[in-house]
Amino acid sequence: MTDHHGNEPGLTRTTERPPVDAEQAREALAALRVEVSKAVVGQDAAVTGLVIALLCRGHVLLEGVPGVAKTLLIRTLAAALSLDSKRVQFTPDLMPGDVTGSLVYDQRTARFEFREGPVFTNLLLADEINRTPPKTQASLLEAMEERQVSVEGEPRRLPDPFVVAATQNPIEYEGTYPLPEAQLDRFLLKLTMPLPGREEEVAILQRHAAGFDPRDLAAAGVRPVAGPAELAAARAAVQRVGVAPEVLGYIVDVCRATRQSPSLQLGVSPRGATALLAASRAWAWLSGRDYVTPDDVKALARPVLRHRVQLRPEAELEGTTADGVLDGVLATVPVPR
Ligand SMILES: Nc1ncnc2c1ncn2[C@@H]1O[C@H](COP(=O)(O)OP(=O)(O)OP(=O)(O)O)[C@@H](O)[C@H]1O
Ligand SMILES: [Mg+2]
Repeated sequence: MTDHHGNEPGLTRTTERPPVDAEQAREALAALRVEVSKAVVGQDAAVTGLVIALLCRGHVLLEGVPGVAKTLLIRTLAAALSLDSKRVQFTPDLMPGDVTGSLVYDQRTARFEFREGPVFTNLLLADEINRTPPKTQASLLEAMEERQVSVEGEPRRLPDPFVVAATQNPIEYEGTYPLPEAQLDRFLLKLTMPLPGREEEVAILQRHAAGFDPRDLAAAGVRPVAGPAELAAARAAVQRVGVAPEVLGYIVDVCRATRQSPSLQLGVSPRGATALLAASRAWAWLSGRDYVTPDDVKALARPVLRHRVQLRPEAELEGTTADGVLDGVLATVPVPR
């Protein structure tokens, strides 16, 4: 006797869902956009970027002035993906153990027990990481890189997926500790969340007028439309996306061109080039293709590379931006046909 999945009854565990194929995973991730839009108006680029980060096991820098729904977006995305999310406000007095967790003495058992810190989650919103001293920043960056934390020499694995979305306060802020350039390179993408346009802002107010409560996403109609099974199937499918040698060459040419730019004192590293490849593949797959085009590379160049280049002070004074330099590079590097 078998059930409707063709499994023998004794082998079926009710908690296990049937395996997801790549097409179902893509449809689920497309539905995610609709789900997020029930709470968040606009900000499509940030939604796409976060999905790409989930598919590539990458982390993101999230830039935007206060009040553009950075927190709301992370919470909504987690709800729509049936993932756990936590938020840490980084402050000058935050200790590494406040991030990773620490050993606490349990009176009853007379033993030290590990109490998990907020990194033990799927989607971690790390707010204002530049307000905390380097030692605490390092504990987060280590967790991002290693996907585990070591407390008293004992490694503890973090959940999978584990994606950090980190926000930075503007550098002018007094008493901040900006992340060193070498650390920025560890983030797959830097996403910017712009202020809404007039129409969008009116739509936001309409929702509030109709009783929208950002703390009650279920009441806004946000439901889980995908989960770890869909993400796993999607990741496997992204690994099968093909890249022609000409497109690999194009990615390298774009990155090399940043190293020659007179406006930059630091160009993109080879790590940046591999990040551009990974993100382009994920984007190609999300767009319904199993091969990468030069247009995929162009679409991802800004978010993948903008935080990996450093402007010369003269260029910065003249009002040049990293995005402007990257646009210039994309306009001049020959595109394979
Ligand atoms: N695009 C948007 N769609 C829907 N609501 C929005 C949008 N932008 C702002 N809001 C409203 O503004 C509130 C503030 O957003 P949120 O707290 O997520 O901002 P934030 O970017 O995290 O701010 P901060 O940097 O201060 O933490 C939201 O709860 C929501 O009510
Ligand atoms: Mg916030």
